[in-house]
Amino acid sequence: MSGSSGPVTYDFTSRVGFVTGAAGDIGRSVALKLASSGARVALADLETARGRLEESAGQCVGQNGSQNVEMVTFDVSTAGAVESAVEHVVDRLGVPNLVFNGAGYQGAFVATPHYPDQDVRKVLDINVLGTINVIQATARAMQAEGKGGAIVNSASMAGVAGAANMLAYSASKGAVISLTKVAAKDLAPLGIRVNSISPAFIGPGAMWSRQVDLQARAGSSYYSTDPDEVAEEMLGQVPLRRLGSVNEVASVVAWLLSDEASYVTGENVLVTGGIA
Ligand SMILES: NC(=O)c1ccc[n+]([C@@H]2O[C@H](COP(=O)([O-])OP(=O)(O)OC[C@H]3O[C@@H](n4cnc5c(N)ncnc54)[C@H](O)[C@@H]3O)[C@@H](O)[C@H]2O)c1
Repeated sequence: MSGSSGPVTYDFTSRVGFVTGAAGDIGRSVALKLASSGARVALADLETARGRLEESAGQCVGQNGSQNVEMVTFDVSTAGAVESAVEHVVDRLGVPNLVFNGAGYQGAFVATPHYPDQDVRKVLDINVLGTINVIQATARAMQAEGKGGAIVNSASMAGVAGAANMLAYSASKGAVISLTKVAAKDLAPLGIRVNSISPAFIGPGAMWSRQVDLQARAGSSYYSTDPDEVAEEMLGQVPLRRLGSVNEVASVVAWLLSDEASYVTGENVLVTGGIA
């Protein structure tokens, strides 16, 4: 690790990153951190997000050269597509051993009595099954290689405390925290550490804007109906009284993936500005 006079970087040369949701705000920041620390990096997202994915990949190429950056598009909830993408990455860059599950979907913002069934399924498919699919495919590749690695999953403060109007999302992120603990136990004998992060209010970015808008429209007793006021109400819950930046989340992810965290596994790290 180095960084006494600048941003902390790790020595990830000879490592291979695999980042889902890499067209998104946090995934992009994680991919860039891995690339700037010398890792070869595979960036994954939906085909419909290709434009932003190419931007993320372009930034990584700027750090580490085009021969060390690969883009793959698939839906995380389809196990076969994930498996094929991992095989492709093994072929092009080597076995992914720094894995970040950043793909995620918030779902609808509706109070529990009327929460839409189809969104429960969609959110669980992406956030829970998707995370499991990526853990399984990358863990099998790491097992075959026999050199271990590290995985970080995206949970959320919603999965710890439950967020009003976010029934499916909170349930899915609670599941991510518990499946992380199981995977950590099952994969420890293979030298693979598995942890999760639980951010709260991170921005600016797509999730923060969507959340403020949809909480305002949800008409609940917890938030006002004006998005600007909702933003203030949310930040009022944060002891540090500000949004967290995507970079502040990526820093925790990079640390968890690094050998500096070599005795940390099965842990859920809150990145919430002090919300407990
Ligand atoms: N931003 C926050 O405030 C916040 C807070 C807590 C947790 N999180 C979690 O952190 C992770 C990253 O969040 P973000 O802010 O970068 O969100 P984001 O919306 O910017 O990025 C999420 C990415 O996931 C991709 N994705 C969605 N469904 C997919 C699928 N089926 N297959 C493949 N990719 C898919 C999207 O295209 C998008 O690029 C998410 O899991 C999110 O739930 C974010």
